[in-house]
Amino acid sequence: MTKRAVYPGSFDPATTGHLDIIARAVGVVDSLIIGVAIDNEKNSLLSVEKRVSLLKIAVAKLDNSQNIEVVAFSGLLIDFARTQNANVIVRGLRAVSDFEFEFQMAAMNRKLAEDIETIFLMAGDSQQFVSSRFVKEINRLGGDVSQFVDAETHNALQEKE
Ligand code: PNS
Repeated sequence: MTKRAVYPGSFDPATTGHLDIIARAVGVVDSLIIGVAIDNEKNSLLSVEKRVSLLKIAVAKLDNSQNIEVVAFSGLLIDFARTQNANVIVRGLRAVSDFEFEFQMAAMNRKLAEDIETIFLMAGDSQQFVSSRFVKEINRLGGDVSQFVDAETHNALQEKE
């Protein structure tokens, strides 16, 4: 069976940690749709259009980028997965602190759609503590976040400073 996966998230902004998970995911599935969540728009630093366009630029640099799409979505993740004909949801796991939330979300999504499997990929050692939340905070307070995001995202963040 073809493995078509959705990798959902806020990506506000996408970090090197996200890109690490994307690179790993595209190595184990046939095609990957990065789902950029619209619904939390009110609280996000970057507009959904910006998050999508920055992700498109960043993933174009990865191997197998021809197997990756970037699509905005609203509503339930499992409905988005169905409209994309995806049978897998990918989530990244960093430290143990991610586990509780991810475990609950995967369990609820399984209740809603038993045929869609959630798989977890572990971020690389150097990415374990990179998070969008801290990147935004460091950037807002004038710190250098260039090692945590790609160049175009860094430019976009500097414009927001
Ligand atoms: O990057 P994030 O903020 O950890 O991503 C969270 C996201 C977008 C994956 C999650 O909030 C989500 O799936 N939202 C869509 C709405 C939904 O399906 N909610 C029910 C989850 S059980």
